[in-house]
Amino acid sequence: MSAQSNIVIEIKKLKREKNAIILGHNYMDYGVQLVSDFTGDSYDLAVKAMKTNAKMIVFAGVYFMAEQAAALNPDKKVLSPDPNAGCSLSDSLDVDTLKKYKEIYPDAPVVLYINTSIYTKALADYIVTSSTAVKVVSKLDAKNIIFGPDANLANYVERKTGKKLIKVPPNGRCIVHANYTKQLVSIARKKYPNALLMAHPESPLEILEAADFVGSTNQMIKFAKESPNKEFIVATELGMINALKIQVPDKVFYPLVTTEACGCARCPYMAMITLEKIKRSLEEEVYEVKVPKDVAEKAKEAFERTIKILG
Ligand code: 13P
Ligand code: SF4
Repeated sequence: MSAQSNIVIEIKKLKREKNAIILGHNYMDYGVQLVSDFTGDSYDLAVKAMKTNAKMIVFAGVYFMAEQAAALNPDKKVLSPDPNAGCSLSDSLDVDTLKKYKEIYPDAPVVLYINTSIYTKALADYIVTSSTAVKVVSKLDAKNIIFGPDANLANYVERKTGKKLIKVPPNGRCIVHANYTKQLVSIARKKYPNALLMAHPESPLEILEAADFVGSTNQMIKFAKESPNKEFIVATELGMINALKIQVPDKVFYPLVTTEACGCARCPYMAMITLEKIKRSLEEEVYEVKVPKDVAEKAKEAFERTIKILG
């Protein structure tokens, strides 16, 4: 038996013994997705975290996702296999900056992308994801809306809703999606003339304008399943190809950027979550994500307010 299948068996056994579940983001390595009880996008996993009866949640994703799950589940043990798995977007907005914007625009609702620390989320009115941002902003009846930290997602939301957003910070970027260019799209279109282009809204506007479909990672899976087309170019993080191969096995997916072309194809933070670290996480019950009660309650309120406005 291979080392890989041994570790999978051990993880499954530990899950049963500890009444634990693994929530895995769609960007995880192939093996990590296979041991996950649920895979999904940020929104879906946050909702799954609220609904589970398991005593323990191992969050196979970046740290802000585990923090969000911990804030939503104060009675459960939420573990991050590697708390150093950060996110360039989350790192780009701190509490003091957000407080300053709130002082300048005291009447503006604060809409934060889920890719933020729990401490900034506690200052937000709404917590959106790539699948919900357009809908939430379109429902807000306010002259000014503070939105952060992803400037690309903000540009996309502005385009779709016709509303002008106050971006905090002005130029927050995902280190993976920010590298996509129109030139890369035309190379891929020439190479794969029958493929449709699916793009994540963290990509620059020029990519989104060129795409056949724009959506969150879950929405991409749905689009690929339902489309009569057989081939797709995927403008998002490389791990997404694993989710698509597992969930849409009868179709073909080409990443817009491969690791041979650019070290930026794979998110270095998502790649930090490995089967070995998940096994250790379950065995030693590390690293427990702790969120102060008052912070968790405020962030939870913002998340629940968002679910309500979504209807
Ligand atoms: P999704 O919510 O679409 O899964 O995106 C999360 C993310 O981090 C994208 O880079
Ligand atoms: Fe953050 Fe980008 Fe990595 Fe997603 S892909 S976790 S937005 S750095």
